[in-house]
Amino acid sequence: MAIREIRKKDDEVLYKPCKEVVAFDKKLAILLDDMYDTMKKYEGVGLAAPQVGILKRVVVIDVGEGLIELVNPKIVEASGTQNGPEGCLSVPGVFGEVERPNQVTVEAQDRSGNTFFITGEELLARAFCHEIEHLEGKLFLDRVTKFIENE
Ligand code: CO
Repeated sequence: MAIREIRKKDDEVLYKPCKEVVAFDKKLAILLDDMYDTMKKYEGVGLAAPQVGILKRVVVIDVGEGLIELVNPKIVEASGTQNGPEGCLSVPGVFGEVERPNQVTVEAQDRSGNTFFITGEELLARAFCHEIEHLEGKLFLDRVTKFIENE
């Protein structure tokens, strides 16, 4: 259990592609646990490994329906569209409208290496897209159609 430092948008680690996870070991388990603690501490709904400086295809998400751990995730199906506000722990205080698919199915592995499929709608679908793009070295800022003024 440890809180890791969240890399902010000027950090080049956020713009590099991540490597596939091949070792489903203790180190991966610790990374996942730390990412969960870090996401909760900063009140995020998702966190990708590059945001804590690790270039591996690892994501944690909790949109209020429980923890989802995604190792080597990829989107295998997407349908519909939604428009809504999006933010990122690496870009604090900035929110913008982003169009995403409304329903997204992801294929991933769990921390033991077992493959599973998970389908999410609305906020969960948005989180899948946002976090998986982090693994490609992309931030949501590129997709913002309109920035939202903070109160
Ligand atoms: Co983000």
